[in-house]
Amino acid sequence: MTPITNDVFLKTLKKESTPYTPVWMMRQAGRYLPEYRKTRKHAGSFLDLCKNADFATEVTLQPLDRYPLLDAAILFSDILTVPDAMGLGLHFVDGEGPKFHYPLIDEQAIQKLDVPNVEEDLGYVFNAVRSIKTALNGRVPLIGFAGSPWTLATYMVEGQGGTGFLNIKKMLYSRPDLIQHILKVTTESVSIYLAKQIEAGADAVMIFDSWGGALSHHEYESHSLNYMKVIISNLNLMGFEDTPKIIFTKGGGQWLDLQSQSGADALGIDWQTDLGNARKVVNDKIALQGNLDPAILLSEPKAIRSAVRNVLDSYGHGESHIFNLGHGITQFTPPENVECMLDEVRSYSKKYHKA
Ligand code: CP3
Repeated sequence: MTPITNDVFLKTLKKESTPYTPVWMMRQAGRYLPEYRKTRKHAGSFLDLCKNADFATEVTLQPLDRYPLLDAAILFSDILTVPDAMGLGLHFVDGEGPKFHYPLIDEQAIQKLDVPNVEEDLGYVFNAVRSIKTALNGRVPLIGFAGSPWTLATYMVEGQGGTGFLNIKKMLYSRPDLIQHILKVTTESVSIYLAKQIEAGADAVMIFDSWGGALSHHEYESHSLNYMKVIISNLNLMGFEDTPKIIFTKGGGQWLDLQSQSGADALGIDWQTDLGNARKVVNDKIALQGNLDPAILLSEPKAIRSAVRNVLDSYGHGESHIFNLGHGITQFTPPENVECMLDEVRSYSKKYHKA
């Protein structure tokens, strides 16, 4: 394997000292970039981009070519590839987001749900990882990812986003056995899926728990966190204990103490959470990643630079902070504002590092 030239992100995950705070952005390859919109038009659709290794490689590298200050690449794909491989029929309706042709609406569909043939049905993702690694040629590390079992289950049961989680919650409270079955099958599938991404070359992996925050206090640990923990320990048992693992529960700021005991190397922090406080809660045991409000990037340079400094100041001195947004970048972000953010992170963060 080609050695990684810029390993600041990986060093931070291992709590080793670095000269500055590394940075990448959730959804860094996406619609706010004119070059992405162009490639997507050429490819035909979002799923065509994901399923073709050349296109997936091209769009993964677009933000890195535009912004040399980025310290990591993230695989271009989607969390919903896994339920798609389970036969739910993923498609995207323009302006409405993802939908499934065959959501899990009855007991029969749920009992039939099984782990897909990951190697075969998701082979296009591992091809993309290999192709991206070749194209990166060690420039920066590559992050692989998957959805958390709970977050995947919300889309699988609701059939789409934006439903207020009423169907899955009704099921959770009335037929917990069915939810457990979905979570179990999904946990096994995601474990294999991430293992194969690592084998194909991913240098770190992240589990997106975008809807863990929709769970009640009583259910978060039992229905989301515990399944992420199983994935982490499965990966360790499969021999990937050295590959850093990041978990991110959006809306999960009140459960950081529990998350810090999950076996993950880093926690994603959303913008509603105070980063300094989060650091105290996890007691510097693991790295933190976040947490600029993505909406700040819709404003202007002075406000952006000041907000970046607030995030860096709230973390303070130390080697275990990865700068990121508190959630994905919005499609309405002017690309030049990202440059301003990255420039401020690089220049202002140096004072917080020893190296
Ligand atoms: O971060 C990256 O650059 C890597 C690519 C990535 C995408 N989706 C590409 C994408 C990643 C890491 C994801 C994860 C993902 N997908 C999540 C978890 C993260 C989060 O945002 O909470 C979720 C919930 C999904 C499901 C999903 N996919 C939704 C809800 C949507 C529609 C949202 C929207 O902005 O329209 C997608 C589509 C999607 N996934 C796009 C991209 C670039 C937009 C597709 C397009 O129209 O070009």
